[in-house]
Amino acid sequence: MSTHRSVKITLCNGKGGAGKTTLAVLLATAFQKAGHRVGLIDRDPQGTATRWIEQTGELELATPDSNHRLTVIDTPPRLDSELLHQSLAESDCAILVSSPSPADLWTSQDTVKTITAHLPKERAARILFNQVQKRTVLAQNLASLTERIGIPALQSRIGRRQAFQHAPLLGWSALDAASREELLSAALEIAALAQ
Ligand SMILES: Nc1ncnc2c1ncn2[C@@H]1O[C@H](COP(=O)(O)OP(=O)(O)O)[C@@H](O)[C@H]1O
Ligand SMILES: [Mg+2]
Repeated sequence: MSTHRSVKITLCNGKGGAGKTTLAVLLATAFQKAGHRVGLIDRDPQGTATRWIEQTGELELATPDSNHRLTVIDTPPRLDSELLHQSLAESDCAILVSSPSPADLWTSQDTVKTITAHLPKERAARILFNQVQKRTVLAQNLASLTERIGIPALQSRIGRRQAFQHAPLLGWSALDAASREELLSAALEIAALAQ
């Protein structure tokens, strides 16, 4: 990795509600907790990540001349978005955020096509399962469901908990230990892939 260039990670899914914004902000915060200088780029015109950061004061928005070691990019829920294509083209790693439901995963296949079309070939793409409920049939069958999607899943998964819904107001302090641990573990896995 060049010391002058920020490692960029794009979170995407063609659908809204998958948890892109939530995980963009919280994974960026987790990278920061792990000691990295992190910036966030909010490419969703709805501006939710920007408002979240203004509210909690916990992260920095990246500017063209900021020299963060890691940059996390939140993207709009539209596969035809130029902003999404640009984000993928400049990223070292793409993270497809998806719920574990088969229907959501199947629609995620269109997102995989967009990733394949725009992320440079040698860069890593992974699924990050969000809103997973442990000890459910779905959680236990994720491996076989993932096989057909075309990109592998991260080992780390993020559970469904109310704490994640409080985080835009209260920041990292809203999170319980289990949520923090999952985020830190996903952040470490992604950081290892991206450089
Ligand atoms: N792991 C989770 N547990 C509980 N609620 C979640 C989780 N991840 C996201 N949410 C909630 O789901 C909704 C959609 O999340 P959001 O990050 O805005 O999705 P997207 O950016 O993909 O549209 C929000 O209300 C958010 O608080
Ligand atoms: Mg969003």
